[in-house]
Amino acid sequence: MTRLSSIAERFRSRFNADPRVFRAPGRVNLIGEHTDYNDGFAMPAAIEFYCWVAIAPRDDRKLDLYSEEFSASAEADLASPAIAPTKSWSDYPIGVAVELEKAGIRLRGANLLIESEVPIGAGLSSSAAIEVATALALADLAGASSFDRVQLARLCRKAENEFVGARVGIMDQFVSLHGQKDHALLLDCRSLTFESLAIPDSVKLVICNTMVKHELAFGEYNRRRADCEEAVRRLATVLPGIRALRDVNLVQLEQHRALLSDVIYKRALHIVSEDERVLDSAQALRAGDIERFGKRMGESHRSLRDLYEVSCRELDLMVDLAYQQKGVYGARMTGGGFGGATINLVDARYAGEFKEKIGRAYQKETGLMPQIYICKPAEGAGPVAPSEL
Ligand code: GLA
Repeated sequence: MTRLSSIAERFRSRFNADPRVFRAPGRVNLIGEHTDYNDGFAMPAAIEFYCWVAIAPRDDRKLDLYSEEFSASAEADLASPAIAPTKSWSDYPIGVAVELEKAGIRLRGANLLIESEVPIGAGLSSSAAIEVATALALADLAGASSFDRVQLARLCRKAENEFVGARVGIMDQFVSLHGQKDHALLLDCRSLTFESLAIPDSVKLVICNTMVKHELAFGEYNRRRADCEEAVRRLATVLPGIRALRDVNLVQLEQHRALLSDVIYKRALHIVSEDERVLDSAQALRAGDIERFGKRMGESHRSLRDLYEVSCRELDLMVDLAYQQKGVYGARMTGGGFGGATINLVDARYAGEFKEKIGRAYQKETGLMPQIYICKPAEGAGPVAPSEL
């Protein structure tokens, strides 16, 4: 039995109905970290790790959800005037339902079974994957499947901002919906337009999960965002046209450095230089210059470590170990930070050896067994064909 037919089978035995199934991928970000909520540039790719949501309608207006990962159920009554978050996994799908209703879509009651293979806490966007798969499933059932994908990405982010309480940017939800096979997206997080950039066959994207997730992640993420807002407020006193750090260049930042505290300056310097690195990396990819791309990745990691201060011992170690291996062009932490994974650009001929050696070296140093994936950019979210079930 395939994974998909097993999902359909479990749905039938739990809910006694034939489901429709939707899938949404996780993502890895090649470069451009913490730039999305600064209206800047990022370069994510969807990856072949999915969250699936199986769905069938109910006669009432209840949502009855079951998570295979947590072996737990949750419920929400769409007829109730105020649905409150419970600080658990179900806030993601229920938050999406709340936002869809707020956007004027009248949802039907439904039974949902959720299964995900996107590792949680690895910085690979398990949350965007569950949000997007749920949004497609609920919108389809409500007959609103023509809902524009950019709007849907916005709506999922809003669910995470307002219902879950994490002030994330739009990169993850956007790429989960717009990912393209064998391509990364150069995403302009202000205009929400993108360019697809082919990843050549000669290199592999290798993800190394450190297997640690530090508790501070949530609060520190929101604090970094507040630091960036503070930088904009201060710089706007002399640069009145600016709306976000996206609008500031390095010359201006240096010129007005005295307006900022040391910490706020460091945060702003990371963002402003990271935007430049993303644009230069895109140029490098277009020109087939993988070495130059790799250099920008190394600089990005150092900037995240020293200026933005969102790395941690295990991520730094994983990056250092990467640079000791053969065939590595570049390595850096990926995602929000404080644990999670690194992304490595590795010569395809050495990818297998890289995986084995870095795994052993990391385990020797930390006693932790890392998960290492050689992965390919995947297609964005969508329905699963009935023939696959
Ligand atoms: C998390 C957020 C994204 C982005 C990254 C950092 O993944 O969900 O919006 O801010 O962190 O680049």
